Amino acid sequence: MTTTEPSARAAELSAMLNEANHRYHVLDAPTISDREYDLRFKELTELEAAHPELVADDSPTQRVGAPVEGGFPSVRHDVPMLSLGNAFGADDLREFDSRVRRGLGRGAADGPVTYVCELKIDGLAISLRYEGRLFVRGATRGDGTTGEDVTANLRTVRAIPVRLHTDPPGERLEVRGEVFMPRGAFAALNEQLEREGKPLYANARNTAAGTVRQKDPAVTASRRMSVWTYQLVGAHGLETHSESLELLGRLGFPVNPHIRRVDGIDAVIAFTEEWSEARKDLDYETDGIVIKVDSLAEQQELGFVSRAPRWATAYKFPAEQVTTKLEEIEVYVGRTGALTPVAHVTPVFVGGTTVRNATLHNIDEIRRKDLRVGDTVVLQRAGDVIPEVVSAVVDARDGSEAEWQMPATCPVCGTEAVREEPDVVTRCPNPYCPAQRIGGLLRFAGRGGMDVDGLGYKIMLQLVERELVRDPADVFRLDAGALEGLERLGRRSAEKLAESIQSARRRPLARILNGLGIRHVGEQTAVDLAAWLATEIARQDGETDAAWTRRAADKLRDASVDELTAVFGIGRVVAEAIERFFADEHTRDTLHRLLDAGVIAEAPAPGAGLAPTEGPLLGKTLVVTGTLPGFSRSEAEEAIRAAGGHPAGSVSASTDFLVAGDKAGSKLAKAEKLGVVVLDEDGFRALLERGPST
Ligand code: IVH
Repeated sequence: MTTTEPSARAAELSAMLNEANHRYHVLDAPTISDREYDLRFKELTELEAAHPELVADDSPTQRVGAPVEGGFPSVRHDVPMLSLGNAFGADDLREFDSRVRRGLGRGAADGPVTYVCELKIDGLAISLRYEGRLFVRGATRGDGTTGEDVTANLRTVRAIPVRLHTDPPGERLEVRGEVFMPRGAFAALNEQLEREGKPLYANARNTAAGTVRQKDPAVTASRRMSVWTYQLVGAHGLETHSESLELLGRLGFPVNPHIRRVDGIDAVIAFTEEWSEARKDLDYETDGIVIKVDSLAEQQELGFVSRAPRWATAYKFPAEQVTTKLEEIEVYVGRTGALTPVAHVTPVFVGGTTVRNATLHNIDEIRRKDLRVGDTVVLQRAGDVIPEVVSAVVDARDGSEAEWQMPATCPVCGTEAVREEPDVVTRCPNPYCPAQRIGGLLRFAGRGGMDVDGLGYKIMLQLVERELVRDPADVFRLDAGALEGLERLGRRSAEKLAESIQSARRRPLARILNGLGIRHVGEQTAVDLAAWLATEIARQDGETDAAWTRRAADKLRDASVDELTAVFGIGRVVAEAIERFFADEHTRDTLHRLLDAGVIAEAPAPGAGLAPTEGPLLGKTLVVTGTLPGFSRSEAEEAIRAAGGHPAGSVSASTDFLVAGDKAGSKLAKAEKLGVVVLDEDGFRALLERGPST
């Protein structure tokens, strides 16, 4: 029977086309022909054109939306998107198993742990949110805490259900997975670009990442992206990870079929071995195997170490190696003034990318490997890692190869380069060297920082040379008038750039901190610092963002090393680097100058950081003093944090334990005076394992 009522017919067509999409893109088992699909799609489009009130959110005609204006809005992940520890071989996997067994208190007699092995998809991590049955939001991972809202683009990915097949457990559902571009789609895209005489993409992963961040969803839609989902956030009453994967399948999500539930680490190792070759036959790239403890109760018992779960690890396939020719060595000057020799090699395809350059790290490395210009060299690249020259093929030499010397002066400013033994790095000591300044400013304006669209190397170089920009804050004082005078920047482009500078004024606090370029403060530390500040500097009623930002900046500038080491995720070396940054007269006020120039931070929610919620030392404060034979200071502090405790810098009445090594001095005396329990290394180890006995 054919339904004639337009609303019923629209609903029927919508359901039928969504089902056909799922069969085609997820199950790989189409039941209607492409022609039939096109005809029904056309019928629905016409029906919706005649009755616009019938256009439903989950209609298959709504997958491609309008282009976004400006940047993508930020999205906070309610549950952070974590990363995984790595395993590079069978030994690492056995160690992982031992840690899991120890964590679960399992002895040899207790039998093997059940694991789930999954392919590690080399794409872009995303989080998909559903309300009721409807897809409402898709976000990138970003820094794990804050990502970008790319809903419109993800909606175009046919394998992502816009409507769930069955009612989800709970009103809101969050699913995580990896979007990727199949090898076939990537090859087809490059062939098309080649025909059009346009530059080609280097590899599928980066193309996928770029495609998800396209401003125009029509472009994303044209690119044949796909997705595998591998995590259901929140247990929803299930007992195992494998059950949650089954549930994902029933809800309509694509779940990779090459999954194996196994008992014990030997079977895990066998799985990694099987896939090291077999993966080359897949139509998508994998860079390893993810191993997860199957039982959700056990996952919970194991918990997390800093920001990676203890119940999972990522095995990485060995790096692929090829040979090529080392044509030339050139020196680059980085943000810290380090002179880094870079190899220019004959372009070669390895690890999914065409490689032209590879880092040589420093002169000692070049000598140790005895690399000469003109050598045939072995090159390797694994995953996201920078390509590396492994060795020279000595037998291939014909005598024309030349040894290479580090230049005596900075190639950018000509200042005599210095190398302070035993430091392996040669540096340009000139703090005003344009290379250093530009490197720092580019980091500040780049993706991990303020993300000013269109402010790249060429423009920054001119801005620095013309002294329009000396300090990061100067960027926010530029207007179209000042920019218009630059080479190759007409009025229209100058106006556009001025606009993107304006819209970059408001950024998450973590991104601003990351952009400052404080030594040792990368994305994760910046997130930890921001989470700490949001908790420490509680927002007052009616306080503006600008006023809050300023109080947070004051707090950070004045924080002591002890205060900073107490922040979750921050160790001593990092704390000292932060203090040094805010003690140096040149950098002390960088953050405040930014605020004066109108930069405003978005605060993370209080308590947003991934503070420990469990562990034998939960709620306990420990101070470490003197030298311990088995731990460096930062290792001891990390071990305390990993056990859920809180490492502090000084002894006070609230200290629970003092761990005292050799040459413990005033802290030991103070602890004894206050009656704080003092432990030696053995006592400390026992405490880390079992927690306090009372
Ligand atoms: S599980 C806490 N499973 O690898 C668990 N991740 O190094 C987090 N990835 O950020 C992830 N395939 O982007 C998981 N089958 C898989 C995966 C996978 C690829 C990516 C993901 C994650 C990274 C971790």
